[in-house]
Amino acid sequence: MQIINTVAEMQALARRWATDESVGLVPTMGYLHDGHLSLARAARQECARVVVSIFVNPTQFGPREDLSRYPRDLPRDLALLEQAGADYIFTPAADDVYAPGFACYVDPVGPLVERLEGASRPGHFRGVATVVAKLFQVVCPQRAYFGQKDAQQVAVIRQLIVDLHFALTLRVLPTVREADGLAMSSRNAYLSPEERQAATILYQALQEARRLVDAGEQNTDILRAALARVIAREPRAHLDYADVCDPNTMLALPRIAPDQPVLLALAARVGPARLIDNFLRHSDGAWDGD
Ligand code: PAJ
Repeated sequence: MQIINTVAEMQALARRWATDESVGLVPTMGYLHDGHLSLARAARQECARVVVSIFVNPTQFGPREDLSRYPRDLPRDLALLEQAGADYIFTPAADDVYAPGFACYVDPVGPLVERLEGASRPGHFRGVATVVAKLFQVVCPQRAYFGQKDAQQVAVIRQLIVDLHFALTLRVLPTVREADGLAMSSRNAYLSPEERQAATILYQALQEARRLVDAGEQNTDILRAALARVIAREPRAHLDYADVCDPNTMLALPRIAPDQPVLLALAARVGPARLIDNFLRHSDGAWDGD
């Protein structure tokens, strides 16, 4: 495994690989858990070279968000990635990625970024799209690996690849969960033991809505109300949004047709952490990750 600390060194390497069949890129912000590692392992199986980036991207954090306290542990991340079989760890400095005079953002517009996370975190997807476009430019992967955990991010990246003509395959892997259902997240580290316990309410709410969908419920207002009702049972949890939408456009679905993909999406604050989670039902009726 090799560690690469500068954009220039990463670009020089990637140019030498230009004739290779497969470079897999796994973008992360570090403080790795099994969700991240599932992406690295999939890349290991599918690609000749696996590049994992670790970069806490300042432009995707709002002014009142957790950039300064975002958890970091590079030595631990490197040990985990060595085990997962990563070849290169790209961990550039912020002023290397955003050099003085930086002026060109990739700024997604429209319904895809106006609802859900886009509504609660203005500018977030501009930061995500900008850094991911930069990573694609620098690493030149044939495949890029993302987690379904961040469903709206997946939809934005899918559009980014189309809109900017990136010649690569997007691979999306299911959400990896703790034994009690809580979606793994670097931000779970912010939770006290009591809050950690309370955080499982997001999973429970999604399970309840899923049961209703599987039982044939097509009225999405009933599903939204069910999500909100379960979250309200937990006094430590404060709902930001509970929605039922199209996973490609992120538009709210008025009703659910039987052969339609459906995203149940939730965001809630638990103590100091803002947590998101979702269940995705594919058009064939199967739930993602089953
Ligand atoms: P980060 O939150 O570190 O997540 C990196 C990747 O891991 C993302 O694709 C995310 O969806 C995936 N991931 C996180 N938790 C997961 C889980 N429980 N199961 C499966 N996959 C999971 O997402 C980002 O970083 C950033 O926005 C980034 C894309 C790196 C751009 O800065």
